[in-house]
Amino acid sequence: MASYGSPLYVYSRTAIENNWHEFDLAFGQHPHLVCYAVKANSNIAVLNVLAKIGAGFDIVSIGELERVLTAGGQASKCVFSGVAKTKEEISRGLEAGIRCFNVESSAELDRIEQVAAEMDTQAPISIRVNPNVDAKTHPYISTGLKENKFGVDIDDAIALYEKANNFKHINIQGLDCHIGSQITDVSPFIDALDKVLDLITKLNDRGIEIAHLDLGGGVGIRYDDEVTINISDYIGKIIEKVGNLEIILEPGRAIVGNTGTFITKVEFLKQNSDKSFAIIDGAMNDLLRPAFYNAYHQVLPVNKNAIGIDARWDLVGPICETGDFLAKDRQLSLTEGDYLAIMSAGAYGFTMSSNYNSRPRVAEVMVSNDTHNLIRKRETIQDLFNTEYLIND
Ligand code: LLP
Repeated sequence: MASYGSPLYVYSRTAIENNWHEFDLAFGQHPHLVCYAVKANSNIAVLNVLAKIGAGFDIVSIGELERVLTAGGQASKCVFSGVAKTKEEISRGLEAGIRCFNVESSAELDRIEQVAAEMDTQAPISIRVNPNVDAKTHPYISTGLKENKFGVDIDDAIALYEKANNFKHINIQGLDCHIGSQITDVSPFIDALDKVLDLITKLNDRGIEIAHLDLGGGVGIRYDDEVTINISDYIGKIIEKVGNLEIILEPGRAIVGNTGTFITKVEFLKQNSDKSFAIIDGAMNDLLRPAFYNAYHQVLPVNKNAIGIDARWDLVGPICETGDFLAKDRQLSLTEGDYLAIMSAGAYGFTMSSNYNSRPRVAEVMVSNDTHNLIRKRETIQDLFNTEYLIND
């Protein structure tokens, strides 16, 4: 903190590498590609660390594609997801030579065919089907139910594959599904897998070859005391069922979630008869998950404090919103000036941060063995408005 200031995100390089290797090694000799979901944490140093060990990437925008390329990642290992790819995104993806577009609707397939035709090339695609399984996760991060906006209804998928098969500039590569995030039980994944394997058989019967199956991301991590999925067990179950089919996975949170912490300082302590508030310098604009999903993150003191006030504290930020809290009702011993570590903040922490209340976005640091490096400098006040203009009149 002395060198970098507060608040601050800190990530562990070794932990990121270990998590990716855990997925990769669990496949053994089975053909596979572990595509890290860039949206979880898109800092180019994080991407670079993963690119160096051979990771593929799941991207959802041209911005994420350019980050991956800048970080040394290979386009040929990128799968491009997302419900609304623009023409520019499609043509840039084709030009860069991405591995596959995960197509989410019939209209999007038309657009990809059109762009590929204009470029006189073939677009590699898979269709994201919605297997209609309940991932039993937070409703905001559940994506595999019929009522969600994602993917193509599994009952309509055959017709769409047949349409794709008749397009001149579409090259069918795979089949894709992603049912949600922070899933802690393997059974919804297996239900989805059974459904999509059944679909692949039907496609094969119609002469449509599927070279890879992309099962998306979604493996949950431990934030509190939840028991979550054992990765090698999950991958073992996949391998058992899929024959020689190449498998792609798109884990985000499981690669980076528990490798990062958000460090924040206690500014003031404020107690009344009912409540104890610790007002901290970090806020919902820096780490949105508690405010947005009522998400739980463990809080640990950075240094043990003998003289603190013992209480059950709500940790609240400086933003003018009642929802601006990072944790509620935590037994801690605190004094002003203490630093706290908000744990498991490596995924969807910085990437969901904003400048709300004109707060500069914080710095990010990566620890590798016994060194630490700044991987994103703290924004300045000038940065907040240097892309804005006054009107002249
Ligand atoms: N693939 C697709 C198509 C996705 O939509 C997502 C996440 C992933 C992969 C990666 O999922 P993961 O392995 O990280 O669960 N902001 C929320 C999470 C939103 C997830 C969106 N999609 C949160 O903070 O919990």
